[in-house]
Amino acid sequence: MIIIASQNGYVGIEAAMDILKQGGSAVDAVEAGIRCVEANADDHSVGYGGYPNLLGQVELDAALMNGRDLTSGAVGALQGYKHPISVARQVMEKLPHVFLVGKGAARFAAEMGHSSCDLLTGPAREVWEQRLRVDMAALDLTRLTEFPDLWRWVEIATDPEHAAGTTNFIAQDMEGNICAGVSTSGWAWKYPGRLGDSPIVGAGLYADNRYGAATCTGTGEMAIRASTAHSIVFYMKMGLSLTEAGQRAMTDLNDLGGRYISRMNFIVLDREGNHAGFSSSEGGTYIYMTGIMDTPEEKSRLCVPVKERWERG
Ligand code: GLY
Repeated sequence: MIIIASQNGYVGIEAAMDILKQGGSAVDAVEAGIRCVEANADDHSVGYGGYPNLLGQVELDAALMNGRDLTSGAVGALQGYKHPISVARQVMEKLPHVFLVGKGAARFAAEMGHSSCDLLTGPAREVWEQRLRVDMAALDLTRLTEFPDLWRWVEIATDPEHAAGTTNFIAQDMEGNICAGVSTSGWAWKYPGRLGDSPIVGAGLYADNRYGAATCTGTGEMAIRASTAHSIVFYMKMGLSLTEAGQRAMTDLNDLGGRYISRMNFIVLDREGNHAGFSSSEGGTYIYMTGIMDTPEEKSRLCVPVKERWERG
């Protein structure tokens, strides 16, 4: 029994482990752990209190994947519901689909009995507004929806202090089943409707009991382009060690062309319960907890540098 998570998973990893200790499934544990992060208003990268898009709307993405049978569920650009990870799980369990977005996802959440709520908290709104006011006349903020060239303001979303975030959980239960889950509010000031890697199976997450699982945080566009989470698991399938697989996937990101290359992090668990974290920058950590531990421990991520470039238009 083991759970690994991104550093912001501290608020949920013990609740998740309690579920595993009581014989619960890896899927139950991942959902429970991520729900705690989604409810944490102090985490501005996930769920309630997340930073909003350019229009001031909080749009949430989440997904989970069951490594037992490769079933998965995802929601994207979901507004008005605090627990996208639970909605994603219901997509997996109740529908023949994998992925719902926008109004369809919100409709489904309501049908599943979730209560709607305003996800934009005062502190998140203040950060959103203060940054826009640096460059926009006060009057303009009330007319954002009418802007004919909203796209020009997306550059604000490149502020690394506020763009980063996301939570990752990977659990392996008593029966050896592995589940991976991801939840995020995505980049602050993103263009409305933008999806990152988090809800995309193969990009932000992948789990297969036979080999292991991987989940990503960082610049989602890069993980989408390189199919990062799937690549890591695929490399393990091809016989690479967990460390070699992570290093190889980071090198793949370094090889990407284009104008926008930034930070990436991932955590990886193999089927034997070995784990590691990787980051393109120094100083990153992740957390883990096994069934015999009373509290989670924090561990350094292996740094595999990616040459960053961000050429503003
Ligand atoms: N990795 C999260 C995002 O890019 O939205």
